[in-house]
Amino acid sequence: MHGPGHAGDDAVRAVHALSWGKRACHLVAFRCAHRGTQLSVGWVEEDYLRCRYHGWKYDAAGRCVVQPGEDPGAADKVRIHSYPTREYVGLIFAYLGDGATPPFQSLPDLD
Ligand code: FES
Repeated sequence: MHGPGHAGDDAVRAVHALSWGKRACHLVAFRCAHRGTQLSVGWVEEDYLRCRYHGWKYDAAGRCVVQPGEDPGAADKVRIHSYPTREYVGLIFAYLGDGATPPFQSLPDLD
């Protein structure tokens, strides 16, 4: 059992579920904040991720930016967890821990 803000198992499952964007890889929570649909069954719209069930749309920081059929401005109150990522030597690394992101340690032999 994990408290709020802890990456936990959902984040680990999301690693292979959510990467999108033309220039960067993004990682957000496994489930939609609305009804808990797995966001891995949604789709990418430019640099956003759209939930398959009711169409809520999230940006790379996990902010909900569109909620079809809801009051204007309601989306501003919704945010799912996002995790910092970095591409290095052809791999995507993500920090799933709590607190500030530690410095990235490159491997000189691979640079
Ligand atoms: S469950 Fe995602 S928009 Fe409703």
